[in-house]
Amino acid sequence: MTFLRLITIAVLVVFTAACAEPPDQQTRSAPEDIFSYANFDQVTVRHIDLDLEVLFEEKALEGSAELTLEMVDGEASQLVLDSRDLTIYAVEALAAGLWRETPFTLGQRDPLLGQSLTIDLPEETSKVRIFYRTSPEASGLMWLAPEQTAGGKHPFMFSQSQTIHARSWAPLQDTPAVRFTYRATIRTPAELIALMSSAQDRDGVRDGEYFFDMPQAIPSYLMAIAVGDLEFREISGNIGVYAESYIVDAAAEEFSETPLMMAANEALYGPYRWGRFDILVLPPSFPFGGMENPRLTFLTPTLIAGDKSLTNVVAHELAHSWAGNQVTNATWREPWLNEGFTSYVENRVMEVVYGRERAVMEQVLSKAGWLAELAGIEDPAMTALVLPAEFANPDEGFSNVPYVKGQFFMMFLEEAYGREAFDPFLKSYFDHFAFQSITTEDFLEYLKENLMDKNPGVVEQTVIMEWLYAPGVPATTPSPASEVFDRVDEIRAAWLAGDLDPAGLGTDAWITHEWLRFINGLPGDLAMDQFRALDSAFALSVSANAEIAFAWYMKSLEGGYDKVTEPLRAFLIRVGRGKFIYRLYERLAETGQKDWALEVYKEARPGYHPIAQARIDGILAE
Ligand code: BES
Ligand code: ZN
Repeated sequence: MTFLRLITIAVLVVFTAACAEPPDQQTRSAPEDIFSYANFDQVTVRHIDLDLEVLFEEKALEGSAELTLEMVDGEASQLVLDSRDLTIYAVEALAAGLWRETPFTLGQRDPLLGQSLTIDLPEETSKVRIFYRTSPEASGLMWLAPEQTAGGKHPFMFSQSQTIHARSWAPLQDTPAVRFTYRATIRTPAELIALMSSAQDRDGVRDGEYFFDMPQAIPSYLMAIAVGDLEFREISGNIGVYAESYIVDAAAEEFSETPLMMAANEALYGPYRWGRFDILVLPPSFPFGGMENPRLTFLTPTLIAGDKSLTNVVAHELAHSWAGNQVTNATWREPWLNEGFTSYVENRVMEVVYGRERAVMEQVLSKAGWLAELAGIEDPAMTALVLPAEFANPDEGFSNVPYVKGQFFMMFLEEAYGREAFDPFLKSYFDHFAFQSITTEDFLEYLKENLMDKNPGVVEQTVIMEWLYAPGVPATTPSPASEVFDRVDEIRAAWLAGDLDPAGLGTDAWITHEWLRFINGLPGDLAMDQFRALDSAFALSVSANAEIAFAWYMKSLEGGYDKVTEPLRAFLIRVGRGKFIYRLYERLAETGQKDWALEVYKEARPGYHPIAQARIDGILAE
C-alpha cells in the first residue's frame, strides 16, 4: 500500500466520523479563520461607509470608515478589526445618539496578518468611525506613476483585496465569513475617474467626487477601487468596459461575446443578481488574469489577443457572480468552493458559446496543468480540496488544486448523475445559499439531501469524501479526450520524427489551444535547430498572444534555446501577470540563469504589483 493511500484512508476515517455528527449550524455563522484577528463571533460589521481622498503624491488614501455593528454577544465590550500598515488618527463610537472618541490599541505587527485594531465599545454602541490613512506600501494597493500607464499623462491606482489585503486600505473584519454592504464617497484629482465594485453614479462627469453604493452584502475580499484616466464603451444593456483610451475599443471588441456568456449562465444557473456586469481593463502590471470584483470585473490587458481566444477568463470571472460572489467560501481553507465551482461553470458556459470541442480542449489543458503542478507540491495535505487547519499563507491555497480538482469533482458528479439532475441541483444550490458564506460541510449536507439521497446508489459517500478530503488525484477523475488534440499530437510526433518542414505542418488554421498543446508536448531536450526551425516558421518568440509566448519561453528555457532572451526580457518588463512571471523567474533560477533573471528583475520590479514583488523577491532569494 502506498503512503498516499494510507493517508487517504486515515483522512477518510477521520472525516467520515466527523460527518456522522448532526449538522452543525454554528459552522455557518462563525467558522474559525486563522488569517483574521477579528472577533466576528462576538460583534459583526454589517455595513461600511467610506469617505476617502485619493492622494497620488503621497500614494495614500485618507479619510474615514464608519462601521455599523451587530452585537452577536451582548456582553462584548471590544471590537477587534484587521488592519495592515494603517495610521489610525482617532476612533469614535456612536452610542445613545452621540459620537464620542473611544480608546483603541494596535497589536504587534505580523508580517502576514498585519495588526489587530482593538476598539473599546461603550455600552449600546451601534457604530464606530475610524479616521485613518494608508501607507504607500499598502499590500492591497498599486500606485502607478503616469509613465507606467499607456497614456503616460495621468497616474493610476487600483486595489487587489483578495485574499487578505483589504485590511491594508480599510480597517475591517477581513474574513470571507463576514458580509457587509457598503457606500463610499471618493475624492480624486478632477481629471480622473474613480470606480468601485458597486453601483455608482454613471453621469460621466469628471468632477473629482464619486459616490458608490453596494446594496448586496459582500465579503471584504470583494471590495475594490480603481482610479485613472479611463474611458467607457458599452457592450450591451448591462455590460460595458472601462479601459485607458489606447485599448478601450480593442477591449470592447475582444469581449463582445460577454452578453452571450451572460445569457448562457443565466439559463443554466438562474438570474444574474448584481445589476451591471462591467469590465475594467487594468495596466499590464495587474498581477492576475482576472478578479471577480462584483459589478466590476478586473482583467489583465494580456487577454486582448485580437482573436477572442483567451475569453475563458471573462467566462470565469462572470461565473464567480454565482460561484464565489453569490455563494462564498467561508474560510481560505476551502477556496475550491469558489474556484472549483467557478471553473466548472466557466467551462459549461464556454461550451454553450464556443462549442463542445473548445470546452473539451480547455478541460484537457487544465487537467494537464493540475497534474504537472502536483509533482511540485511538497505537502500532500495541500493537494486536497479542503486544506489543512493551518498553513502559512492563504494565497498558497490557490494552486491548480482548488481550480481544476474542484472542476473535475463537479464534472464527476455531472457524469454520475447526468445533466438532467445535476444542472437543477447546482442551480438550486446557488439559490439556496445566495449571499451566504458557507463551509464545505454546508455544501456536503446540501449535496447529500438534494442529490445523493434523491438518487440513491449512484455515488458512494466514501467517494465524495475522497474527493473533498484526500490528497492527490481521485481514481474517479474524468478523462476528457479531444480529437483535435490527438491530431496535434500526431503532427508533433511526425515533425519530431523528422519527415516534415514546419511550414508544411498544416497549422494555418490552428487556434491558440492547439498551439499550447503542441508546444507543451515538445520534449525538453529539443535540438537547437528544431527550436530555430519552429521559431522562424511561426515567430513564437515574439507571439502577441501572451499564453503562446509564455508556453514557448518555458520550453525554450528548459531546452536552453537562447534566441528567446531578448523577447523574454521585454515580456518580463512589460507584463506583471503572476501566472506567467512567477514560473518564468522560477525556471530561470532552476536553469542556472539567476544572474540574468536578477538583472531583468531589477528593471522590471518597479512595474510589478507589491504582491508580485514580494513573491519574486522570495523566488530569487532562494
Ligand atoms: N479570484 C481569482 C484571482 C485570485 C485568486 C486573486 C487568489 C487573489 C488570490 C480569479 O477569479 C481567478 O481565478 N483568476 C484566474 C483566471 C482563471 C481563468 C483561472 C487568473 O487570474 O489567472
Ligand atoms: Zn477565480
